[in-house]
Amino acid sequence: MSEFANLLFEKQEGIGLVTINRPKALNALNQATLEELDKLADLIAKDTDIKVVILTGSGEKAFVAGADITEMQHKTAIEGRNFGKLGQAVFNKIENLPQPVIAAVNGFALGGGCELAMSCDIRIASDRAKFGQPEVTLGITPGFAGTQRLARLVGKGRSKELLYTGDVIDANEAYRIGLVNKVAAADELMTVARAMAEKIMSRAPIAVQLCKAAVNEGLDTDLETGVAYEAEVFGLCFATADQKEGMSAFVEKRKASFQGK
Ligand code: HXC
Repeated sequence: MSEFANLLFEKQEGIGLVTINRPKALNALNQATLEELDKLADLIAKDTDIKVVILTGSGEKAFVAGADITEMQHKTAIEGRNFGKLGQAVFNKIENLPQPVIAAVNGFALGGGCELAMSCDIRIASDRAKFGQPEVTLGITPGFAGTQRLARLVGKGRSKELLYTGDVIDANEAYRIGLVNKVAAADELMTVARAMAEKIMSRAPIAVQLCKAAVNEGLDTDLETGVAYEAEVFGLCFATADQKEGMSAFVEKRKASFQGK
């Protein structure tokens, strides 16, 4: 499927592989790329053959080196705000896709690139990856929800340090502060990402989907509301064939075979 100028998209046995593909600009996100991502997210949301999404960047050097600076350079205040809102809406859509989304961070994930990675459920970094929110070096703040998602992922103090200094950190430091889930050797990144996707796909699909919804809903609300939401999704699992299969398989000491029903 190649209806996109700036994205590559392939389906590989249940995995939807999305590659941001503007290597000459280190995969920087311009308006057109954001619009394409928005469209692709809609297609993926409706495609029940896709169980897990992996998102990566084209080339050896960058995941995404940020929003496109040349395109932003002459924006007015209103245009800047609208551009930020577009990216925020697209990243919200990615965060709330029914399928789990794994970012395979193959290189620079700066500014909008770090923000894109943070909108994914899980981040696996190549040992060559670099992360940062260097917006203050350009006279701007993050605008694709980086101030919000970074603080939620790494806490108030560490996020403020990264935001105020614009420091770029390596993959091991990103792992240490909880910005990424795993670090893999550069040449094993996609193998490690696929292995995680396959493990997730072997679990009960509806339960996985409900876990995602419960975490996302819960983090946007207070504990009491989140816990109440969990009780509802937990109850819902007992209406699935997969709950019967999962528990029968345990009792019968065999491996469960889930149908996503
Ligand atoms: C546009 C970019 C770009 C970007 C790199 N390029 N990043 N173009 N927007 N964000 C282009 C360069 O201009 C260059 O084009 C080519 O990609 C290769 O980059 P180089 O700088 O030559 O590579 P290198 O020396 O290896 O340095 C890599 C780098 C550097 C450290 C990643 O490119 C860099 O600092 N990029 C900007 C990172 C950044 O500040 N990101 C945050 C953007 S603000 P030519 O044509 O010269 O070959 C942001 C805000 C989000 O993301 C919210 C918006 C609402």
